[in-house]
Amino acid sequence: MNGSGTIQYIRAQVLENRLLTDGLWFLRLRAAGLEGALPGQFVQLNCGRDLTVPRPFSILDTHPANQTIDILYRLVGEGTERMTTWQKGFETPLLGPVGRPFSEPANGAKALLVAGGVGLAPLDFLARRLASQGVATTLLWGIESDSPFPVELDPGRAGLGEGYAVRHLQSHGIVSRLASLTSRAGFFQGYVTELAAHCLQQWSPEERAAGMLYSCGPLPMMAALAQLANRFGMRGEASLEARMACGFGVCVGCVVWIGDAETGYYLRVCVDGPVFGLDQVDWSKSC
Ligand SMILES: Cc1cc2nc3c(=O)[nH]c(=O)nc-3n(C[C@H](O)[C@H](O)[C@H](O)COP(=O)(O)OP(=O)(O)OC[C@H]3O[C@@H](n4cnc5c(N)ncnc54)[C@H](O)[C@@H]3O)c2cc1C
Ligand code: FES
Repeated sequence: MNGSGTIQYIRAQVLENRLLTDGLWFLRLRAAGLEGALPGQFVQLNCGRDLTVPRPFSILDTHPANQTIDILYRLVGEGTERMTTWQKGFETPLLGPVGRPFSEPANGAKALLVAGGVGLAPLDFLARRLASQGVATTLLWGIESDSPFPVELDPGRAGLGEGYAVRHLQSHGIVSRLASLTSRAGFFQGYVTELAAHCLQQWSPEERAAGMLYSCGPLPMMAALAQLANRFGMRGEASLEARMACGFGVCVGCVVWIGDAETGYYLRVCVDGPVFGLDQVDWSKSC
């Protein structure tokens, strides 16, 4: 996928900002100019004049007709706490769209998306986009705790046996299933990467060779997925997170080590990523 190009500095206006569940919030912003943003790209939000650096958030969705974008954010610290106080009409500076988006699978190839926690945001966007292009898409989502669930669930209608599916994804023809380490009815009990392995075992060798893995979530999860890609001879991509300052490639404060110890080099997560090949990243240095 090609990004929408130019990073813009715009004034975004809050249209909706609501708690979904357990520290997880949904934010809709009017942000003219971001209509062409693609899955994997993100925005840098200014969370307050006294907070020196903006905070990066993946784009969950764009609505070109209304010039709006959606964000799913978890309350973790000062910046996100400020965001929870934003009321309808509040305006804030925004930089975006930033970063390299996910690439597209080859023609006719299947896609398996593996999300951990709030890493769902860019993958939900990607899953809907791929499905609209006719790609057979499966999304697996790992959730850590026993917290109430932030989206509507339905019994899964296709693929992967019994279990709950995410209703809005299922309505787009996307197969989805959920994993949790604790026992929850309708969830796979275990790591989401184990569920991914189970799913890939059902693919033919040809489907695996042509298919694509996409991931976003905690580093150990993405490192395990890189191993899985290696085991099944698959290509894949991961969206990385890093502490960021400038957010547009200048400060070099967000680098990740690419390649092996001898011939490797640093790349900037903000503009060279955040999406990297699963086989590009030195996961032993990143986790
Ligand atoms: C490309 C990218 C996309 C992201 N997308 C999302 C998203 O869609 N939804 C979402 O909820 N969060 C996302 N994040 C993480 C989000 O940027 C941080 O949670 C946020 O900046 C925290 O700000 P704060 O001021 O509330 O927390 P702080 O007070 O700055 O920090 C609180 C805690 O969060 C950790 N933290 C802060 N910033 C980051 C970061 N960039 N990466 C990892 N840990 C961090 C800190 O180490 C600390 O433990 C993304 C990060 C990146 C780099
Ligand atoms: S945050 Fe400054 S270079 Fe990436």
